[in-house]
Amino acid sequence: MKINSLNVDLGERAYPIHIGSGLLGRPDLVIPHLAGRQLLIVSNETVAPLYLARTRALFAGFNVEEVILPDGEQYKTLDVLNTIFDALLEKHCDRRVTLVALGGGVVGDMTGFAAACYQRGVAFIQIPTTLLAQVDSSVGGKTGVNHPLGKNMIGAFHQPRCVLIDTDTLDTLPDCELSAGLAEVIKYGLIRDPAFFAWLEENMDALLARDKAALAEAIERSCRNKAEVVAADEREGGVRALLNLGHTFGHAIETGMGYGAWLHGEGVAAGMLMAAALSARLGWLSAAELARIEALLLRARLPVRGPRDLSTERMLELMAVDKKAQDGQVRLVLLRALGAGIVTADYAPALLRDIIDQYRAA
Ligand code: NAD
Ligand code: GLY
Repeated sequence: MKINSLNVDLGERAYPIHIGSGLLGRPDLVIPHLAGRQLLIVSNETVAPLYLARTRALFAGFNVEEVILPDGEQYKTLDVLNTIFDALLEKHCDRRVTLVALGGGVVGDMTGFAAACYQRGVAFIQIPTTLLAQVDSSVGGKTGVNHPLGKNMIGAFHQPRCVLIDTDTLDTLPDCELSAGLAEVIKYGLIRDPAFFAWLEENMDALLARDKAALAEAIERSCRNKAEVVAADEREGGVRALLNLGHTFGHAIETGMGYGAWLHGEGVAAGMLMAAALSARLGWLSAAELARIEALLLRARLPVRGPRDLSTERMLELMAVDKKAQDGQVRLVLLRALGAGIVTADYAPALLRDIIDQYRAA
């Protein structure tokens, strides 16, 4: 059984990412990262029937409790977060408890935020089970919940102690969720890794066919990119903002359409093409490069147009509520070349409006 292990270099908060098949059967990879003998596994009603028993077995001999959340982006709220705190208190968990996030990005973000807040901060471990969570959300310590007025607006930076990626969990993932994860994979190619973008062009069919070796390589290369960016800029003072390519547009789509209507990765895909189109208008990408980006997103079975039902005006309003906004000005991640992102507010507002209009579904 081949395991790829990477490290997120954050000094005393450094931690490993283990990637491989069958890792839910490898207690030796996670036990050293527990804070004490008490654990609370947080999962949801879809993932728990599939993987909770194996996860419990991973921690055999420890005092393991569980809390099962409802499934869906619409439940990534302060109210549902409170059920994790209820469980922690009802089960008399102390400061040496370790929370274990078993699920996709929603479970991971909420579990991490609960760990950041409970008794002012306890340990947590990520066991991501969607492609999106395996390549992005489980790494880097961004945790939080949504607010009705804005996506991920309430949260904290809190790093996990370990990320355990069992690639076999992808066997049960629905196709649309696999595609949503591919959006974040493509993102790394676009913002900082042109060779990876070219590799994705060559290997997209294998990825969609769930070829194990191709998926393992895509996860490893994505995690390597993410770990490097996070190690360079943990709290998003600079380069980490590039990881938000397409997200200002995508978050507006998710919020505007109602959480859960569009998958996060779907909003990001449509948003990345809008960002690429704006970059092309600024002269930074050629028409051929823009066409390559659109073609790859389409091959990954991702949307390349925003929703018809969300007006340009409403999109712009929602985009103004963005964590990258400074002094009322929305900064966007654009591409100054294919494989090189840039964060800038230096674009004409009329141009942005034009792009959103043009890239809305007819
Ligand atoms: P998700 O957590 O909603 O999971 C998608 C669906 O797949 C859910 O229905 C889930 O129950 C199901 N599922 C999970 N694993 C499965 C499996 N192995 N087999 C079958 N079904 C499975 O969505 P997601 O795409 O994983 O994550 C999206 C969330 O992540 C968003 O809230 C987004 O804001 C957040 N996010 C956070 C970061 C970060 O850095 N913290 C980065 C990117 C995205
Ligand atoms: N997904 C964006 C980040 O982790 O910074």
